Amino acid sequence: MAYDLTAPSDPSLAPGEARCPGPSTRDIILADADGAPEALTAESYQFLGDEPIPFERYHSKAFFDLEMERLWTRTWQWACREEHIPNVGDYIVYDIGHYSFVVMRADELTIKAFYNSCPHRGMQFCEPGSKGTGKQFIRCPFHGMSWELDGSLREITCRWDFPHLTEDNFSLPEINVDTWGGFVFINMDPEAVPLEEYLGVLPEHFKSWPLEDRYVSIHIEKTLPANWKMAEEAFLEAFHVLATHPQGLQTAGDANAQYDVFGDHVTRFVHTIGYPSPHLQDPPDENELLRLLGGWDLVDPEIGVPQGQTARGIWAENLRTTLGAEFGVDLSDVSTSEMLDSIEYHLFPNMCLFPGISLPMIYRFRPNGSDPDTCIHEILFLTPVKPGEPRPAPAPVYKLGIDDSYTTAPGFSPGLAPVYDQDTGNLRRQRDGAKASGVGAQQLGNYQEVRTRKLHQTVDAYLEKGPLRGPLREPQR
Ligand code: FES
Ligand SMILES: [Fe+2]
Repeated sequence: MAYDLTAPSDPSLAPGEARCPGPSTRDIILADADGAPEALTAESYQFLGDEPIPFERYHSKAFFDLEMERLWTRTWQWACREEHIPNVGDYIVYDIGHYSFVVMRADELTIKAFYNSCPHRGMQFCEPGSKGTGKQFIRCPFHGMSWELDGSLREITCRWDFPHLTEDNFSLPEINVDTWGGFVFINMDPEAVPLEEYLGVLPEHFKSWPLEDRYVSIHIEKTLPANWKMAEEAFLEAFHVLATHPQGLQTAGDANAQYDVFGDHVTRFVHTIGYPSPHLQDPPDENELLRLLGGWDLVDPEIGVPQGQTARGIWAENLRTTLGAEFGVDLSDVSTSEMLDSIEYHLFPNMCLFPGISLPMIYRFRPNGSDPDTCIHEILFLTPVKPGEPRPAPAPVYKLGIDDSYTTAPGFSPGLAPVYDQDTGNLRRQRDGAKASGVGAQQLGNYQEVRTRKLHQTVDAYLEKGPLRGPLREPQR
């Protein structure tokens, strides 16, 4: 059935109430009738206003510096996976802007994060972005002073010259660390809310999707030619599928994707796969859909998709079998939506989590040093660990330069890589176009772009808190 997406919305509706004609994402998932978790069909949209958002927020160095001072210092960010530092003495360096932390497995049950800066004369203990294993203690490479893995003072070189330094004022400053879903999170703010509170609905929703039982099977890091927010926002809506990924329209419900806002830090979209775009005037029928999904050989060609079944359902069933065998796990109880759909949660400020089975990505977006005009984007694939088998080592980071194509990353899905190239190929033009704007601000759709508006509102909430003041930021006496 064809829908008219060019007609204005019903004037009797309040702002934010209008939806794309045709079935909603929730309708599609409920019609699957195969036990999708309640969390997946819950809807939580709120209208957050329709004011323009100034482009300056992306390219102004002053705005960037405020974010560095007030946002990155106060928010929980994942620094690594627990599997990156499995043994006592393993460490990894997490860098965010000009901040840098050594995340250390201090003992079997304790992970600590120390400023990557010697309290003697500021030397970095470790190279930014580096990792290592088997440390017995932390030794500064400049004058050789050292600390135990828990940050307590071990040795001051030429101690006779430092009678003013003691265990009390010369241990390593550390920041908050907590874990969830196999991720290690850090927060610089001594007065931060606990991670569990910050995560909002995530622990409850992810009960069905235990990410701690997965391992990093692919890890790609690429520099992108735009501010971290602009790059992240390219992945927060399916509205751009029509123009940017037109090849996906036959098999992706783009304009009827669902958008949710859950509390202060979490938003979500659910974007159905195996369902045609409402934009199509001549959408494929179920047989054609199955062909497009690559599953025509799953049915009797004389009959096609049997009465009462859908292409989406048949394709999901096939993936339960093939991916279940590949991963060595039983996927027989996993709903069609969890098998197929693009389900993306965003955790403010810079994490996206996809709990689905065939699209199991994690994203992280970080400023690139002190440059507001570029950022670092990581894509990880989290694959289930086979029951009863040892956890494979996490994939090493494969780095792509600002002009490198995702298609050159080894092991990256040949189907997905060109899609990421399409997404990131827009960014340089969007960044430079925003600077050339005649109006100086962007307009957002009330529903489909609500996650972008929420991101900006939460940025503002952190900027209004003012600079971080806490004992760790004061010079130690
Ligand atoms: S700067 Fe670290 S020991 Fe001197
Ligand atoms: Fe995209």
